[in-house]
Amino acid sequence: MIGKILLVILTADVARSTQCGKVWLTVSSLWRPIAASDKVIDAELEVNWDLDCPTNIEPPDNIKVFNADPIHNKSLQPELILTLAEHPEGYYRTNIEVGRPSLPGGWDATGGATLPGPHCLKHYAALYKNNIFLTSSCLQIWPTWMYDLRRQLGRLPIGSLMIPGTHNSGCYKHEDLTRKDAFQKYLLTQDRDVWTQLVHGIRYLDIRVGHYPPPMHNGSHSTDDANHTSGRFWVNHDVIRINPLATIIRDVRNFLDVARGEVVILDFHRFPVGFESRPSRHRRLAIMLYREFGGLILKPSRGVDGLGPTLNEIWNSGRRLIICYGDKHTVNEFDWLWPPLTQVWGNQQTAQSLFEYLNSVLMGSERKPRNTLNPLWAIMAELTPRPFDIIFNPNGAGLRQMADAVNRNLSSLFQNEWWKQTNIVATDFFLGNNLIQVSIQSNIKKSNIAQWSFS
Ligand SMILES: *[C@@H]1O[C@H](CO)[C@@H](O)[C@H](O)[C@H]1NC(C)=O
Ligand SMILES: *[C@@H]1O[C@H](CO)[C@@H](O)[C@H](O)[C@H]1NC(C)=O
Ligand SMILES: *[C@@H]1O[C@H](CO)[C@@H](O)[C@H](O)[C@H]1NC(C)=O
Ligand SMILES: *[C@@H]1O[C@H](CO)[C@@H](O)[C@H](O)[C@H]1NC(C)=O
Repeated sequence: MIGKILLVILTADVARSTQCGKVWLTVSSLWRPIAASDKVIDAELEVNWDLDCPTNIEPPDNIKVFNADPIHNKSLQPELILTLAEHPEGYYRTNIEVGRPSLPGGWDATGGATLPGPHCLKHYAALYKNNIFLTSSCLQIWPTWMYDLRRQLGRLPIGSLMIPGTHNSGCYKHEDLTRKDAFQKYLLTQDRDVWTQLVHGIRYLDIRVGHYPPPMHNGSHSTDDANHTSGRFWVNHDVIRINPLATIIRDVRNFLDVARGEVVILDFHRFPVGFESRPSRHRRLAIMLYREFGGLILKPSRGVDGLGPTLNEIWNSGRRLIICYGDKHTVNEFDWLWPPLTQVWGNQQTAQSLFEYLNSVLMGSERKPRNTLNPLWAIMAELTPRPFDIIFNPNGAGLRQMADAVNRNLSSLFQNEWWKQTNIVATDFFLGNNLIQVSIQSNIKKSNIAQWSFS
């Protein structure tokens, strides 16, 4: 009954469009060295725009970038002015450092009061024509988008929504990047921790777990208490461990506790180290997950038309965490684990071949490659380095460049062509694309299409 009583939160921002073009901000995955320093410059602001004016209307001529909302302060000076005629490609990478800012609306500290709805970080970009303000947008977070849009989205099954996700979600370093990190080009796929990903609006996490011998403690090392068990599990990038799994679990738990209408999909997709022929380790991991999340875990269900439960059904159950598990035997043992989720992964090395591959999967006439036992499936929208390059080619592009090569085009491809067919889409360095906003807008469009008339 949740959907009937509660306040309507205005989400005008999400749906707003101007007659004649729009502007949006992203964050670059690239970095630059600083002379004579171990630090590097990364996470620079990118301005993107798309002008779509009827022939009788003259298009905007300027974009100004601000460090605060220009609407609220007429004397605010821009950080940067772009003359659009000089940049026909609709994109400009600034040297304004976004860094790792604190999150607005109380979403920074865990445990404080958090305000629902979208919130702006400090950067704004505005379109002008002859110095007349037309429209603006900000770099923003959407911490509660699912529940904000409950009127529109409540009747949609989870398998029909477009859900923004991250690839190798736990492979980040939260502190400032150093040259050493930057040169390890194939290790990190994200530059925000899982808490920050969820607060931005990411709802699908792709996790690969490794099992390692416990850390050596002085004194007791044979006890198998809870802490001890969780210390053995790590988030891996292939065979390299990156972050303790406990950190990711804590972030998801904290987020579900404060964002009480959001649904999160946790995909334990692969187990690259320490699980081969070790069912007891899978079991221990599953038991630990149940202990951490117990009452929040939604049991699998195929729902109407095999598209899974609707958001209303999920909210009514009070259980908002879906855990998919990439080992069938373990799924058979625990009735709350969802069957392995299909990731559509092209193993492509160039932007063009990746887009062709994704286009054939999404727009082709063949059945979508989802696991019939799981209503969810994920498009992996990132490039993959060749093993040869990782090992032998120090001049290879690296994951940051590879993300940069595809992220902008992904925003427009999903927005204009692929949104309707897409369920989950997972990317690298997700702030370099606009897929959270595209997903939210696409879900509103999906809710308006008659064929999605589920009861
Ligand atoms: C507006 O911007 C100016 C220039 O940046 C600044 O000095 C002033 O304090 C701002 N006013 C408000 C109300 O924020
Ligand atoms: C173990 O304890 C000794 C003495 O208390 C200490 O010097 C040493 O650093 C400790 N080692 C670890 C790994 O904590
Ligand atoms: C893990 O250790 C911490 C402090 O060392 C303790 O507060 C916590 O209760 C322990 N958790 C479990 C599940 O044993
Ligand atoms: C990416 O988008 C740009 C701008 O629309 C276009 O010129 C370019 O060809 C696209 N790249 C690929 C690989 O499709």
